[in-house]
Amino acid sequence: MQLKDKVAIVTGGGTGIGGAVVRRYLDEGANVAVVDIKPQSELDVTYADGDKGRLLLVQADVTKRESIEHIVNSTVERFGRIDVLYNNAAVFDMRPLLDESWEIFDRIFAVNVKGMFFLMQRVAKQMVEQGGGGKIINMASQAGRRGEALVSHYCASKAAVISYTQSAALALAPHRINVNGIAPGVIDTPMWKDVDALFARYENRPIGEKKRLVGEAVPLGRMGRPDELTGAAVFLASADADYITAQTLNVDGGNWMS
Ligand SMILES: NC(=O)c1ccc[n+]([C@@H]2O[C@H](COP(=O)([O-])OP(=O)(O)OC[C@H]3O[C@@H](n4cnc5c(N)ncnc54)[C@H](O)[C@@H]3O)[C@@H](O)[C@H]2O)c1
Repeated sequence: MQLKDKVAIVTGGGTGIGGAVVRRYLDEGANVAVVDIKPQSELDVTYADGDKGRLLLVQADVTKRESIEHIVNSTVERFGRIDVLYNNAAVFDMRPLLDESWEIFDRIFAVNVKGMFFLMQRVAKQMVEQGGGGKIINMASQAGRRGEALVSHYCASKAAVISYTQSAALALAPHRINVNGIAPGVIDTPMWKDVDALFARYENRPIGEKKRLVGEAVPLGRMGRPDELTGAAVFLASADADYITAQTLNVDGGNWMS
């Protein structure tokens, strides 16, 4: 067990990659605060009876200042400290570049950038105060490595995640807080239902075609599964990654080479 008795917060932990990371962190012995905007009844993750003592469900919107306080305070109240932040909640949308997109910009940047940054800042303050270091893992994307004509705001938001990861890693290094990112490629989660439908609309394709094509284009020949992100999520949260900071690790079947 690589995370025995550690305390982790996982945002967007109600489904997809976040849900798989919650399951794996529990299996690795961690106490986990699962944060999601969705109510508990809609969470797509199954927990065993034995997990209950190590699990805290927090319904919260990471874009709200008071929610960020609530996430940190309720985790510390329940488990005493925070060792790991898996900063994963995000939303996707797309529009042709010349189309109206003020609302999309605001929504994407509110969750993927503002929520990501200010939760990281608040958790880092807690880690500095408690001492002993910590691990912060921000979810970027291959979309943050390169722009896309239809996906400008999401790509820019993920490039911001990579940049904030670097700045925070430098600022927090004296406190032995490691800050790293993970850049997934195409992972088969509920998010992809929306992504596929949007590409169908804007590229005039049948439903399902874009998803099939992006899977076939991966050097390893298929989309990833959410559980295939969990090895990196555990590694970067563990003592094995004590000498790694400011990096964004590609977990993408070979899509991006760096
Ligand atoms: N699926 C992919 O192909 C892929 C690729 C690259 C990067 N990513 C990134 O990985 C992370 C997880 O993606 P996923 O595919 O599992 O997404 P998903 O849409 O399947 O799940 C995201 C979860 O975040 C929650 N959430 C959304 N807004 C929130 C808010 N304001 N406050 C709290 N919770 C909120 C949702 O309710 C949902 O449970 C995201 O950061 C995403 O950008 C995904």
